[in-house]
Amino acid sequence: MPAGAGVEEGRQKAQACVACHGPDGNSQAPAFPSIAGQPRQFIEMSLIMFREGRRINEVMKPIVDKMSNADVRDLAQYFAGQTMAPPARKPDAEVAARGREITEKNNCVQCHGPRLTGQQHIPRLAGQHKEYLLAQLKGFKAAKRADFDGTMTSAAQALSADQLDLVADYLSTLSPP
Ligand code: HEC
Ligand code: HEC
Repeated sequence: MPAGAGVEEGRQKAQACVACHGPDGNSQAPAFPSIAGQPRQFIEMSLIMFREGRRINEVMKPIVDKMSNADVRDLAQYFAGQTMAPPARKPDAEVAARGREITEKNNCVQCHGPRLTGQQHIPRLAGQHKEYLLAQLKGFKAAKRADFDGTMTSAAQALSADQLDLVADYLSTLSPP
């Protein structure tokens, strides 16, 4: 299959995602994650985890139920190729300094990348909605959001509720490179 062959199929299949994730994967609603520019492998893994019921979400469940592996590949390729919109808010200097310190001290950058833009099966955090990030971090800390290999459930344990809020705020204001 030539490179990019799935993109047109992905664009058509992505019509089913527009209502929540936005026309190009940049969602307007803070409860819905933006998926534009996420690593292809992370999108594939997420869809498969929803489909297998390992990551439990009532909204995504009916959407992935009948998805074939080819659908998963096409959709992941399409959204990974979209450009993430710039963050809606500017960073506050103090929040930015404290948020950066937390991500460095807790090794978030080791996995999510020096600019927190994700890699392979690890998601981009930079520029994601604060509400969404905070909900996921609380979910990991409470062991309610199952994760691929358990590393996030343990990474979230080290942070207090205040630190989770601070880090989610900071991450949401980071611009894409
Ligand atoms: C009715 C709204 C809705 C529709 C339609 C929808 N999604 Fe979602 N999606 C969500 C919600 C809500 C979440 C967050 C779930 C959670 O909190 O775990 C999500 C999460 C995701 C995630 C995980 C993102 C992350 O950063 O963890 C991916 C990938 C995804 N959706 C892809 C898709 C694709 C591809 C489609 C279209 C085939 C689609 N979604 C259609 C609501 C929707
Ligand atoms: C050892 C590697 C590793 C470390 C360290 C790590 N993460 Fe993660 N993180 C992951 C992986 C892998 C996922 C995807 C989990 C999944 O969906 O199964 C993830 C997912 C997330 C998500 C969910 C995003 C989304 O779009 O759904 C957030 C938020 C997050 N990490 C924040 C952090 C923060 C903040 C830190 C530092 C305190 C951190 N991570 C440290 C590997 C790591």
